[in-house]
Amino acid sequence: MADTTVPSINTLTLSDTITQAEFSQRVLIQSILTRPDHGAGLAGQTVKVGGWVKKGREQGKGTFAFIELNDGSCPANLQLIIYADVAVLGEVTATGTCLHVEGVLHLPPEEKQGKQAIELKVVKVLEIGRVDPLKYPLPKTRLTLEFLRDYVHLRPRTNTIAAIARIRNALAYATHTFFQKYGFLYVHTPIITTSDCEGAGEMFQVTTLINEAEKIEKELIKNPPPSLEDVESAKSDVKAKGEIVAKLKSDKAGKPEIIAAVAELTKAKENLSKLEERFKLKPGIPKKDGKVDYAQDFFARQAFLTVSGQLQVETFACALSSVYTFGPTFRAEHSHTSRHLAEFWMVEPEIAFADIQDDMKCAEAYVRFLCQWLLDNCRDDMEFMVEKFDKNAIKRLQMVASTNFMRLPYTDAITILEEAVSKGHKFENKVEWGIDLASEHEKYLTEVKYESPVIVYNYPKGIKAFYMKVNPDKKTVAAMDVLVPKVGELIGGSQREENYEVIKERILEMGLPLEPYEWYLDLRRYGTVKHSGFGLGFERMILFATGIDNIRDVIPFPRFPGRADL
Ligand code: 4AD
Ligand code: MG
Repeated sequence: MADTTVPSINTLTLSDTITQAEFSQRVLIQSILTRPDHGAGLAGQTVKVGGWVKKGREQGKGTFAFIELNDGSCPANLQLIIYADVAVLGEVTATGTCLHVEGVLHLPPEEKQGKQAIELKVVKVLEIGRVDPLKYPLPKTRLTLEFLRDYVHLRPRTNTIAAIARIRNALAYATHTFFQKYGFLYVHTPIITTSDCEGAGEMFQVTTLINEAEKIEKELIKNPPPSLEDVESAKSDVKAKGEIVAKLKSDKAGKPEIIAAVAELTKAKENLSKLEERFKLKPGIPKKDGKVDYAQDFFARQAFLTVSGQLQVETFACALSSVYTFGPTFRAEHSHTSRHLAEFWMVEPEIAFADIQDDMKCAEAYVRFLCQWLLDNCRDDMEFMVEKFDKNAIKRLQMVASTNFMRLPYTDAITILEEAVSKGHKFENKVEWGIDLASEHEKYLTEVKYESPVIVYNYPKGIKAFYMKVNPDKKTVAAMDVLVPKVGELIGGSQREENYEVIKERILEMGLPLEPYEWYLDLRRYGTVKHSGFGLGFERMILFATGIDNIRDVIPFPRFPGRADL
C-alpha cells in the first residue's frame, strides 16, 4: 500500500513541496513562498531561483544588498541577500535586472520575521541581465495603466499586469475544465471566414489584392510593360519562325536542321507568352464591371476575420451534440469605449437538443463556476486586486458564485426602466419598447435595481441577429444577454432558428445575401435540430472579476482603433 502519511511541515524537504520548474534551471518562487508556512520549513536548503528585481537597496555601507526578486509565478517577492564578495552590488540592484542565482534559504533575524518567513542568502550569481536605470522605462515608482499601454512589451513585469495574466490564465483553464466536465467537445473554428455571423458588417477584410497591387506597381516602374507593338512584333516573329519550320519540313530538310528551327520557334513562343502576360499587368486593384474583382484575390472570393465562431461551431453541434469554441474574434467597430476591443477572445458553447432555458442555465452555471474557481485558485492575486483596484472584487465574486441570476423578459425590463424614468431617474438614451439596451440601462438593472447579475431574454427581433429563433409572438426572438454589475453585457446568446423556411426568410428580411449562408441553411435542410448557444466575452469576464476599468489592460496585446502595437 502506498505511504499516505503527510510529513509535518517542518520536515518537508524541497523535493516534497517544491514544484521544480521542470525544463528550467531553477525552482519557482511560488513553491517556496505559497506553502502554508510561507517557506519557513525550507530553511537550510540550497536552491537556484531566477527572476527580475523589483527593488534593490544597498545596506551596511555597501557591504551587502537586499533584493526583492519576482519570477511571475506568484505575486509575492522572494527576498535575497547578496554580499559584496558575491557580486558587484551596483550591477544587481537596479529595478528590472534579471538575476539567476544560487543560495541557501534561511530564516530572517527574529525582528524581521513578521515581514517575510524566509529569505535567500545568495552564494553564487549564475547570470545577470543588466539594466541601465537611467534608461529603463519602468522605474519602480507606481505607473498608471494608461502609461503602461505604451510599453506592452515590458508591462508584463509589473505587479498588476502579471496578476491579470495569472487570473486570465486561470479563467482559461477553468473554462476548459467546466466544459470538459459537462461533456462538451472543444472545436477549433476558423479565424478566416467568408460568412458574416452577426450580419452587422463590422468585419475586417482579409485580402492580398492590396499588396499584390503595390508589388505590380513597383515592378512596372522598374521594368515597364511591353507596348502593343512589342507584342505584335513578337507575334510576327512566332509566325515567321513557324513558317521556317513548315518550309524545312516540306523540303524534307535534315533532322538536325529541323530540330534547330523548332527550338527557335519554341523560344519565340515563350517570349510571346511572357510579353502577353506582362502586357496584361495593370496598376491598381483588379476590377470587373466596375467592381473589385475578388476572383483574383487569394481565396478567389471575399474573405474576412471572424466576428464569432458560432455559425461554424453549429456544424459540429449538429453532429456531436455539445461543443464549444474558444478563440480570438475581430470587430472593426469604431467604439472607443473601455469595454470594446477590435480583437477579443470569445468562449462559445453550442448545445444540441437545448432551448433558451437550457442556454440560460448553462450560461449561469459557467459564470458562477468561473467566479468560484478564482476564489479557490487565485486568492492572492484577487487580494492584490482588492488592495489596489477594487475593494469589492472578492465580494463580487462571492456574490455571483452564490446567487441565482435574476431572469427578466425584455418587455419587463423596459417596464422597469420606464418606471425608473417616471420616478425621476435620468437616462441619456430614450427608454421605449424596441430599443437596444444601452450601457446605462444595463447598469441600472444590475447595479441599482437588482444588485446582481440579470439575464434579459426575449428581445425584439428587429435588434437581434438573423439566426435567433422567432418566438410564437412573431415580435420577439429567443435571445438572452447576461448582464453583470460593473461591466454590463457579459454574454450574448440565443436559441437558434432551426426551421428552414423561417430562417431563410429572416436572412432575406435582414437584407443579407443567401449564397454565403447556403451551407448554414443545409443544417436546417438536413436533420435539423433544436439548438442553442452563447458567447462570453473573455476580456469582459476579466474586467468583471478584477475590477480593472479598461478592457485594454486585461488583454496582453490590445488592439483598438488607431493602435495595434507589436
Ligand atoms: O453578443 P455578441 O455579439 O454575440 C455573438 O457574437 C454570438 N454569435 C455569440 C454566440 O451566440 N455564440 O458577442 C458576445 C459577447 C458579448 O456579450 C460581449 O461580452 C463580447 O462578446 N463582445 C466584446 N468584447 C470586447 N470587445 C468587443 N468589441 C466585443 N463585442 C462583443
Ligand atoms: Mg450582444
